[in-house]
Amino acid sequence: MNSLPTIHFYDLHPSFANIKEEVLSGLSAQPKAIPPKFFYDEYGSQLFDQITELEEYYPTRTEIAILKEHGDEMVDLLGNDALLIELGSGSSKKIRVLLDALKPAAYMPIDISKAHLLKSAQTLFNDYPHLDIHATCADYSDHFHLPYNPENVPKAAFFPGSSIGNFEPNQAQALLTRVAEFLGSNSTLLIGVDMKKCSQRLNSAYNDAKGVTAAFNLNLLTRINQELEANFEISHFKHHAFYNEKLGRIEMHLMSCIPHEVQIDGQIFSFEKNESIHTESSYKYAIDEFQTLAQTAGFEPIRVWTDKEKLFSVHCLQVR
Ligand SMILES: C[S@@+](CC[C@H](N)C(=O)[O-])C[C@H]1O[C@@H](n2cnc3c(N)ncnc32)[C@H](O)[C@@H]1O
Repeated sequence: MNSLPTIHFYDLHPSFANIKEEVLSGLSAQPKAIPPKFFYDEYGSQLFDQITELEEYYPTRTEIAILKEHGDEMVDLLGNDALLIELGSGSSKKIRVLLDALKPAAYMPIDISKAHLLKSAQTLFNDYPHLDIHATCADYSDHFHLPYNPENVPKAAFFPGSSIGNFEPNQAQALLTRVAEFLGSNSTLLIGVDMKKCSQRLNSAYNDAKGVTAAFNLNLLTRINQELEANFEISHFKHHAFYNEKLGRIEMHLMSCIPHEVQIDGQIFSFEKNESIHTESSYKYAIDEFQTLAQTAGFEPIRVWTDKEKLFSVHCLQVR
């Protein structure tokens, strides 16, 4: 902690071992599904950044506005001199809103997308040269250890972007329980959660006019072709996203336009016309629903902020 601030990098090799196994088992299941964490190769991360700039995609700018408006209070609750861990840090843009006032002992961005993580950590360090950065390439949906965990330094966490909504509620609870365990009693978690709202607003956020979300979804097949030597014909699939009001979630699918077969690692997968691969769910939560979920994972809700339209929420939770 006393040495000069620098960038440290820890590679826990998250996806290379898993992608083949998870893709093959996901495509063997009925209905077919592939976890959304595999969207994020280097190009997928760039496409996600483009999504955040889209007119229709309200979550990013709404969450940033909430962070800007209430940042002072959030900084007080997170506390200075902690090891600040960010889950799914992406381009590390949102943390900047807090870093002008917050003085953590060190910052640990955790992301599955290695090249993007490295680039973002370097860009952040250029702008915040006093920040000690411990960039960690890991899969937070799996058990992993914190590669940097100095004794007697309190921990705090930031989990923006409503990525918690990508998990089924029971998996979200399990993930939050693991976060509570590695943070330790009385630590603070600041987490962004997208809220339930009219289906029209939600449907247009995931079906943008420029087709960037469609390209992001379809890039999953390009990635599988490249990394698993598969032969997906991308033009045989189309992006399909809709709000499933009953389950309170956006569903993203890749829908087969024609009956056809795909070969991956020597295995053949058949697709009927209109059969889909479920690639992402994005659960939306009312404030009390999310607080109840957090409580079952060992957190106490401390504070919550929203925007005027009640589109998005940022929760401050404390480990019991
Ligand atoms: C929806 S984006 C959010 C990015 C950024 N936090 C924001 O709020 O704009 C999700 C981020 O989490 C990362 N990610 C997704 N699944 C992950 C996993 N299982 N483990 C680690 N990182 C993951 C992605 O690479 C991506 O950067």
